[in-house]
This record gives sequence, structure tokens and C-alpha cells, in this order.
Amino acid sequence: MGKIVFVFTLVMLLLVHGSVEESVSSDTFDVFGELENFDLEDDEIESEDLTWWSSQHGSKILVNVDSFGAAGDGVGDDTKAFENAWTQACSTQKSVLLVPPGRTYLVNATRFRGPCVGKLIIQIDGTIVAPDEPKNWDPKSPRNWLSFSNLTGVTFQGNGVIDGSGHKWWAASCKKNKTNPCVGAPSAFTIDQSSSIRVRGLTFQNSQQMNFVISRCDSVRILSVKVSSPEDSPNTDGIHLTGASNVVIQNSKIGTGDDCISIVNASTNIKMKNIYCGPGHGISIGSLGKDNSTGIVSKVVLDTAFLKGTTNGLRIKTWQGGSGYVKGVRYQNVKMDNVANPIIIDQFYCDSPKSCQNLSSAVEISQIMYQNVSGSSKSAEAMKFACSDTVPCNNIILKDINLQRFDGKTAQTYCHSVTGINYGLVQPSADCLTSSDKSIIEETVNDMDNLIHTEL
Ligand SMILES: *[C@@H]1O[C@H](CO)[C@@H](O)[C@H](O)[C@H]1NC(C)=O
Ligand SMILES: *[C@@H]1O[C@H](CO)[C@@H](O)[C@H](O)[C@H]1NC(C)=O
Ligand SMILES: *[C@@H]1O[C@H](CO)[C@@H](O)[C@H](O)[C@H]1NC(C)=O
Ligand SMILES: *[C@@H]1O[C@H](CO)[C@@H](O)[C@H](O)[C@H]1NC(C)=O
Ligand SMILES: *[C@@H]1O[C@H](CO)[C@@H](O)[C@H](O)[C@H]1NC(C)=O
Ligand SMILES: *[C@@H]1O[C@H](CO)[C@@H](O)[C@H](O)[C@H]1NC(C)=O
Ligand SMILES: *[C@@H]1O[C@H](CO)[C@@H](O)[C@H](O)[C@H]1NC(C)=O
Repeated sequence: MGKIVFVFTLVMLLLVHGSVEESVSSDTFDVFGELENFDLEDDEIESEDLTWWSSQHGSKILVNVDSFGAAGDGVGDDTKAFENAWTQACSTQKSVLLVPPGRTYLVNATRFRGPCVGKLIIQIDGTIVAPDEPKNWDPKSPRNWLSFSNLTGVTFQGNGVIDGSGHKWWAASCKKNKTNPCVGAPSAFTIDQSSSIRVRGLTFQNSQQMNFVISRCDSVRILSVKVSSPEDSPNTDGIHLTGASNVVIQNSKIGTGDDCISIVNASTNIKMKNIYCGPGHGISIGSLGKDNSTGIVSKVVLDTAFLKGTTNGLRIKTWQGGSGYVKGVRYQNVKMDNVANPIIIDQFYCDSPKSCQNLSSAVEISQIMYQNVSGSSKSAEAMKFACSDTVPCNNIILKDINLQRFDGKTAQTYCHSVTGINYGLVQPSADCLTSSDKSIIEETVNDMDNLIHTEL
């Protein structure tokens, strides 16, 4: 009887979700081509034209950094010009702060503070570069280059480039040379304690450390951004979310030396769609729980992504000794090309020069669904669920997974202390995920469906 109900449940699931088996082609994926041509859903189309502010009819007030004495030659110090332009734009209704195209502005570490009157638009079409010498960095701002805080209803847009000139910072990193002291470097571009923020079209490159950070923000839309830092640049996360809620990241291409996207503590309702990642360390939740801390991340959806040559694919990483949870994550429609660790949950994460103590507490991981994930794995363990004995991973769901080894050998699944189900085609097989508790399955799949339908 139990078995019949179980089979019936699976049939219902397949009917609901559609059961088209993916045929995996071995030709090179041209997903980024697909991403670029991707049509935005209606509710995500922006009605404003990117250049509307320059029209005769616009009643906008242009605040051009050049009018404040910026040299724009990449050599002269434009910090004061940017500060003064900011003060003017931020205190003017309907203003557009313009960083004009075709020029390069050298700007020191600067904090641009709100609140501003009205809904400011920051139009960056030129290049903003950081001074490249760590020795001369402003000691009052060791961890930030350009930081924006306390803003509401602000749009950052344009075809411009934010360039952290990070080469000397990378060389000074202890990850590059163990004789270097382990000190943090600045994040290039940070939006902090803000809400109703849009970021569109910008390129972030060669950041000193993280490229683009969203911290303590609510309601953020990031569209069509590009991140480009070298594969061997240390800790250069592409887009880093911390304390962020209701965030959409869409149509973005990220290549960097650390996580393409990292989602850490106190982040919830995060939706990522059409993401290209590579090189880099994949799309990560965590790390969480370091130094016995509490880490909480919930409701994350990744829909349609292509990862190429990354050191991880879809990764959840937590340190031993932490508390809190990661709950409600759905990954779907993901293609991988030569990715080490395509699917990985690691409750033993230890990014430290010395080995980590074994501890019994852990950040709890549950309700994680992987659906329609295919492509090639660089490592033998295409799927790895390394969970703690005392705090196992629960309700892990695999549906329609087809991961082959890049070198043609046989791929495997590693399981430790994990429960859940798998259905549809699942390759490599995951015999550890064969719970027969139908109530758990139903409950989890229902929760997962609600997750994807959540309006963000
Ligand atoms: C920018 O940094 C340089 C190097 O530390 C310093 O000489 C210069 O005064 C700074 N500019 C401003 C406007 O603070
Ligand atoms: C943000 O702006 C509000 C309103 O002016 C102010 O009370 C608050 O202190 C500001 N916060 C920060 C971090 O600047
Ligand atoms: C590491 O740094 C030390 C001290 O600055 C230097 O002597 C050494 O050559 C560096 N090693 C590498 C591999 O760059
Ligand atoms: C994580 O966020 C929670 C609140 O959501 C907070 O209580 C906790 O202290 C945070 N942990 C760290 C390490 O900041
Ligand atoms: C974490 O907790 C363990 C066990 O209580 C303790 O031995 C360790 O020192 C703690 N670590 C930190 C960084 O507080
Ligand atoms: C599976 O994902 C791939 C890659 O995103 C996509 O092209 C394909 O349409 C998806 N298949 C189904 C059945 O949704
Ligand atoms: C921690 O646990 C792992 C896995 O059980 C074991 O291999 C390792 O030796 C342990 N480390 C310490 C320091 O006890």
C-alpha cells in the first residue's frame, strides 16, 4: 500500500512538473548566446529608455562630474570632483549624476552617503579607476573603494566600467604568497543599507577584493551587469550578497577568481536568472557559521545558468561549529561544462591555513532541490553531499540530473549523512537519496513550488 501511494505521488509529480527527459548533447553549449538573446518577462521590462535623460523633453537636471573639475584623464585625482558632484546631485530633485563616456576618472576610496532628495539616477558611461598602490590607500577606508549607503529609489546604470586596478592588491594577498600577512583588501563597489535599488548594464572589473557587494539592502534589481576579474585573482567574488532581501540578479555574465555569486548571512528571497559563470568558484550559498556564528539563508532560486570551467558549480558551504540554517533553495535548468564539483553541499568548509577543529554543531541544511542540471564534471564526484553526523542534510531533492565526467570516466555521487529523494533520470545515481517517506516528499516539493512562484 505504502509503495503504491509512493509511486502514485511520483507520477503526480511528473505530471505536474513535466517529464521531458533531457537528452544531453556533447557539443559545446552556446548558452551565453541564448542568455544574450533572452527576452525579459513582461513584469521585468523597464519602461525607461536608457538615454531618456538627454532628451529635450526630460525635465531632469544633469550633474556632470566634468563640471566639477574632473580631469577624466585617468591620471589627475578626480575624488573631489566626484564628491562635489555627489553633494549637488543628491540634494537636487530629478537629478542625473553623469560620468560621461569616453573618459577615465581616477577616484580614491569614497563614501557616497544618502539619503538623497528624489530618485537619483547615476549614469556611468565612462570608466572609474581606483589608484593602484595599496601602500597609499586611505587608511580610513581599508575595506571599501566606492561605497554608497542609505539610498532609496536610486538607479545605477550605463555602459561604464568600475575598475579596481587590483593587481598589486592580489600580489600582496596571503593567498598568492604565504609570506604575506592575511589582511583584507577593499571591495570595489558596495551598496549598503539601501532599498529600491536598480543596477543595470555596468561592468565591474579587476577589483581589489570583492567586485560588487550588496549589504543590508532590501529590494534590489541587478540587470545585465558584467564582472570580469582574472581567474587567479584572490577573493574577487563577483556579486556578494549579505543581509540582502528581495534581490533579483538577471542576465549577467560573471568571470572572476572567487565565487561568481556568493550569498551569505541574513539573505532571503534571492532570485537569479540567466547567469553565466566562469571562470570562478561557482554560485555559492555561504560560507556560513565561521567561528561558531549563526548563519541564515532562505528562499533562493537559480533558474537558467551556464557554468564553464569553474572550480565548483552549485555550492552550499558551511563551517563546522556554526548554527542557523540554509532552507528552501531551488536550482533549475543549469548546464555545466568541465566544472569541478558541479553539485556540492559541504558542511566541513575550511578556508583557513590551518586545519579546522571537528565540532558537532553545524548550520542546518534542508529543502534543497536540483532540477534539470546537466553537463560535464571535471572531478569524479559530480555530486557531493558532505553533511555532519549530528546535523544531517534533509530533504535534498534531485530531479533530472545528467552529469557526465569530462574525461569520459564514470562519475560518482558522494553521500555522508544526507536524506532526500531522487526521481526522473539521475546520473550519476544517488542511492542515498531514496527516502520512502511520502509525506516529507510531498511537503518538500510543495514548498519548493511555492518558492519558485514567490513574487520577488
Ligand atoms: C587620493 O589619494 C592620494 C594618495 O593617498 C592622496 O595623495 C590624495 O590627496 C587623495 N585625494 C583626495 C582628494 O583625498
Ligand atoms: C540614514 O539616513 C537617516 C535619515 O536621515 C539617518 O537617520 C541615518 O542615521 C542614516 N544612516 C546612515 C548609516 O547614514
Ligand atoms: C613571496 O614574498 C616574499 C617576500 O616578499 C618574496 O621574497 C618571495 O619571492 C615571494 N614568493 C613568490 C612565489 O612570489
Ligand atoms: C546572521 O544574521 C542573523 C540575523 O538574521 C544575526 O542574528 C546573526 O548574528 C548574523 N550572523 C553573523 C555572523 O553576523
Ligand atoms: C567554537 O566552539 C568550540 C566548542 O565549544 C570551542 O572549542 C571553540 O573555541 C569555539 N571557536 C571560536 C572561534 O569561538
Ligand atoms: C533544462 O535546462 C536547459 C539549460 O538551461 C534548458 O535549455 C532546457 O530547456 C531545460 N529543459 C527543460 C525540460 O526545462
Ligand atoms: C575530523 O573528522 C574527520 C572525519 O570524520 C577525520 O577524518 C579527522 O581526522 C578529524 N579531525 C580531527 C582533528 O579530529
